[in-house]
Amino acid sequence: MTPCNGKTALVTGASRGIGRATALALAKAGAQVLVHYGHNAAEARSVTDQIKAAGGRAEAVGADLADPQGAHNLAARVREVVGGRLDILVANAGISKAATIEETTPEDFDALFAVNVRAPFFLIQQLLPILKEGSSVIFTSSLAAHAAVGNLSAYAATKGAIDTLVKHFAFILGPKGVRVNAVAPGVVETDMSNLAKTDAGRDLTLGMQALKRVAQPDDIASAIAFLASDAARWVSGDTLRVDGGSKL
Ligand SMILES: NC(=O)c1ccc[n+]([C@@H]2O[C@H](COP(=O)([O-])OP(=O)(O)OC[C@H]3O[C@@H](n4cnc5c(N)ncnc54)[C@H](OP(=O)(O)O)[C@@H]3O)[C@@H](O)[C@H]2O)c1
Repeated sequence: MTPCNGKTALVTGASRGIGRATALALAKAGAQVLVHYGHNAAEARSVTDQIKAAGGRAEAVGADLADPQGAHNLAARVREVVGGRLDILVANAGISKAATIEETTPEDFDALFAVNVRAPFFLIQQLLPILKEGSSVIFTSSLAAHAAVGNLSAYAATKGAIDTLVKHFAFILGPKGVRVNAVAPGVVETDMSNLAKTDAGRDLTLGMQALKRVAQPDDIASAIAFLASDAARWVSGDTLRVDGGSKL
């Protein structure tokens, strides 16, 4: 038996980066995976093709989570596909913007909170009826919520909000048998991470990490797959640092 055999999973932001690696990891563990994308339908399709080629079950679902109704639309589509039960919800889609306090505009601030906080909040609200005993919700937080790294204060505040939601949702949903956790990656080599793209950024990254290599999306995906699995059945309300020992 694979750890997620027979389970249904939604991974938001699964067209690229950490979400893509997570969708592949959950499919490998046996789950039927809904591969959410925002704008990159072709990328999402390549993920579902890869899963199906390996004998798994997957479907791409699109929704712009910057839209106030985006989470509601996505939840409606998910309920059509999976029916009455969603076992694993990975609320991973996110955006970042490096800017000093002075450079940050109200529009940037609102855009960050819309995608990174409002969307996962309402996605969970809309999916509550199909999160049942044994379901697991995993958010993607960030090292930036706990440590001052880069010019990321507005982005970091969105991840601080996620860590707060983890605790509240875990307490409220615990009596239903639903676990809620987050992973907090450090620097990961994806489209989002500017630090991983330059020699200076890599030096800075390795300088703050105990483990001396730049993280790959799969390093985060395996921690998410752990939190989704029954091996983490007694873990709830926690943000798990998955950052190679950053800023110790
Ligand atoms: N990379 C890092 O160093 C790092 C570190 C700590 C935390 N994180 C967090 O990890 C998560 C994933 O990051 P990543 O590095 O994998 O990012 P990424 O490679 O830039 O991928 C972002 C994903 O989010 C989706 N997305 C973005 N805006 C969206 C919107 N308006 N509507 C719907 N989907 C949207 C994208 O979908 P489309 O391309 O289809 O639009 C894409 O699949 C984020 O929450 C991020 O904050 C990343």
